[in-house]
Amino acid sequence: MPVGIGLCGLGTVGRGTVEVLGRNAETLSQRCSYGLEIVQVGSRSPRPEVDLGTIPFTQDIFAVAANPAVDILVELIGGVEPARELILTAIANGKQVVTANKALIASCGDELFAAAKARGVTLAYEAAVAGGIPIIKALREGLSANRIRWLAGIINGTSNFILSEMRDKGREFADVLVEAQMLGYAEADPSLDVDGTDAAHKLVILAALAFGMPLRLDAVHVEGIRDIQPDDVRYAGELGYRIKHLGIARRNANGIELRVHPTLVPERSLMAQVHGALNAVMVRGDAVGATLYCGPGAGAEPTASAVIADILDIARRLGGGGRDAIPALGVERSGEIPPVLDIADAESAHYLRVSALDRPGVLSQLAQILSARGISIEAIIQKEPAPGQDHVPLILLTNRTRESEVRAAIAAIEELDSVAGAVVHLRKEALNDV
Ligand code: HSE
Repeated sequence: MPVGIGLCGLGTVGRGTVEVLGRNAETLSQRCSYGLEIVQVGSRSPRPEVDLGTIPFTQDIFAVAANPAVDILVELIGGVEPARELILTAIANGKQVVTANKALIASCGDELFAAAKARGVTLAYEAAVAGGIPIIKALREGLSANRIRWLAGIINGTSNFILSEMRDKGREFADVLVEAQMLGYAEADPSLDVDGTDAAHKLVILAALAFGMPLRLDAVHVEGIRDIQPDDVRYAGELGYRIKHLGIARRNANGIELRVHPTLVPERSLMAQVHGALNAVMVRGDAVGATLYCGPGAGAEPTASAVIADILDIARRLGGGGRDAIPALGVERSGEIPPVLDIADAESAHYLRVSALDRPGVLSQLAQILSARGISIEAIIQKEPAPGQDHVPLILLTNRTRESEVRAAIAAIEELDSVAGAVVHLRKEALNDV
């Protein structure tokens, strides 16, 4: 008997999964002892926009969770409810579960993994992070010998696509966002992409695996890309940097930094070469050093690739016996868990853009404010005033500094009579071993 798959959700990823399971059916069957068969598809929309052939279809997704022919329930409906209830029902019915739902794992993972563990079934989630890149497998298998020092990733394809198009083609934010939606990269609510929430969901899953810590969505410092101005993209370029939206999890001496924000990365770094909707995750282990995983982070078939890898893992195990190889996030913790740090205690280098009056002494005032807090200026650009303007943009790159010191310096700079408006503040990461 083939392993029975019940698939719920026929959005972008659901349709991609049906397509790839059908197209590669023979190859996939050769890769597990009993073969695979979709025994039922559930979607709350009345008419599926995909040719299901003879596969039974229902609008009642809970019927799929109750179907005795279903061995593995694949949840691709997204969002928290009713996905949470569907998965808990499937687990209670003894089904194995595969999900691509990062929002659900990040916010309710503790409950779901505990339920799966209690029932002796697997909850697999490769597709929840970085689409087609097997980063969950890399962390749980390939890098399992290491103590992870940090990881940093471009983990939202939509934001990367927008930043790349703004930089390369000078396009407007809103116009690129519409294209990302049409291409199937963006979430149903694209503010989850551009405001950083989607990246935060993925970061907490990666951090939980990397550091054996709980899923701490509440503790992530989150900034999106909405406020990135073309001027800052240009100035960063002049200084030899590109702006990328990164999720960063780093173990420092006092605890764990969890942060998502636009970041200047050196133009020559591999991370700076990751364009369009591509994702990339860099992981630094104590034994292996720095490793980089890159590939499509969104879209129908790349995400289906990860969903089906999980299905195959489970099907192989169901066919051949063996222990569950996929760790349950938030349940199998060991050792002392370091605290998650407030962003004020995070350390990075900083980009500051100050609109300053073009008059003697302003630069020295800024230098004094920074040096009083032990902040060193690593690079500086000042432009000539535009005709009719008395303020000029001053762009500074600092050394690696504690966030609280930089925030205090920014507050003092904004108090100066010679400075107009708010200081633009971005962080900069060298992404090396320092
Ligand atoms: N909206 C997500 C992105 C899709 O743009 O990366 C993959 O999670």
